Amino acid sequence: MSAAADKKLSAKLTLPDGKEANLPVVVGTEDEHAIDIRSLRNETGFITIDTGYMNTGSTTSAITYLDGEQGVLRYRGYSIEELAEKSNFVETSYLLIYGKLPNTQEREQFGTMLTRHSLIHEDLHHFFAGYPPTSHPMAVLSAMVTSLSAYYPDCLDRNSPTDLHIARLLSKVRTIAAFSYKKSIGQPLMYPKNSLKYCANFLHMMFAVPSEEYVVSPVLEKALNQLLILHADHEQNCSTSTVRMVGSSGANVYAAIAAGILALWGPLHGGANQAVIEMLEEIKLSGGDYKKFVDDVKNKRDNRRLMGFGHRVYKNYDPRAKILKKMCDEVLAHLGIKDPLLELAKGMEEIALKDDYFVSKKLYPNVDFYSGIIYRAMGIPTNMFTVMFALGRLPGWIAHWKEMVEDKDTKIGRPRQVYTGERPRKFVPIDQRT
Ligand code: ACO
Repeated sequence: MSAAADKKLSAKLTLPDGKEANLPVVVGTEDEHAIDIRSLRNETGFITIDTGYMNTGSTTSAITYLDGEQGVLRYRGYSIEELAEKSNFVETSYLLIYGKLPNTQEREQFGTMLTRHSLIHEDLHHFFAGYPPTSHPMAVLSAMVTSLSAYYPDCLDRNSPTDLHIARLLSKVRTIAAFSYKKSIGQPLMYPKNSLKYCANFLHMMFAVPSEEYVVSPVLEKALNQLLILHADHEQNCSTSTVRMVGSSGANVYAAIAAGILALWGPLHGGANQAVIEMLEEIKLSGGDYKKFVDDVKNKRDNRRLMGFGHRVYKNYDPRAKILKKMCDEVLAHLGIKDPLLELAKGMEEIALKDDYFVSKKLYPNVDFYSGIIYRAMGIPTNMFTVMFALGRLPGWIAHWKEMVEDKDTKIGRPRQVYTGERPRKFVPIDQRT
């Protein structure tokens, strides 16, 4: 869905030579206003510069609405709070990808597709054996997702039916994630069980062993559903923009998603959940003086940051972090776990939210501040946290890829630059160089 230019509104730009450019204004359904600069270079020779795309809308999109000042997040118009409470991950995935909540029949068909496509080709199992046990699971996941395109070459045809690729991705990425964990700890791979629902099946593949019956805890199943829903989309973030950028070249959906997984890996993005736990463990190991740590952050000692705090878009409490903080208490109580890292995290949040450094910069806990503590309590190892994020973000990436492919106005992503290098100069042969 593209936002229309408002005929009554335009923006006037005065250029250094005194000429003026009249630029149309585009208005979104939530009254967001954007100056459309697409004609600027052709008409004036000027481009705009915006490193980190702080202020650039790369597309219009009908998937997710986010108001960072108010702390609002909605998928396809439904609030994140309501979805986390009343929906499940598969239904929310359908909503994001197909734009509406499924009816009973659609929900059943979608569920059956996910169940039928949960296995990965047996030949792919050899790939796991090729990685050293110390491999980061994000390296394995991204490589395996790229490899899926070799097993389903019809994805190279842009006109191929995408529903099948969508179901394959959603289902197989879950299997790959669990298998990569089993491989890393040297346990036999547990195949998916068709009788289990999406999240329960993942927990089974992660934690069951052939020698005993594994019963999935309904509390953990619900918590996993909620965690994945909270991560499912976040409009044009770094990894989603990467998926769109790679997909805009016509690369297949597996290649685009693998690129998104790699973009997510960084500690400033999805890798922050791992970085939060590492930060809390470091504080605990060095005596638990979190006040000193916060002081180091404020004084930028060793370029420290309070991981899990701050967000490019949220300048208010991240609504997902609010839900996660509550969930943290519930899951830990259910499991009878008292995690000293949770106490540290709460203590740090309390002082940061009263401290002028964080208040003036509008730095609040983000989705990654509490998610790692829940994953840890569930028995998921720290280096798998970003894989869990990828599993959650998958329907969002797919929804954006689909929206982009179906939009007839899509162009290859190709920003410009302002060149700051050398002026033209003559080549000097090596024996004449001083
Ligand atoms: N701790 C301490 N100071 C911070 C933090 C933090 N977590 N985040 C931002 N700041 C400070 C910066 O030092 C900078 O200060 P200055 O103006 O004195 O130089 C100011 O706030 C603005 O920071 P930027 O890095 O310019 O803000 P940007 O919007 O580019 O970065 C980001 C956002 C990357 C999320 C940042 O807040 C950060 O590094 N947070 C920690 C990592 C993290 O939790 N990432 C997960 C984000 S959520 C997600 O991707 C799922």
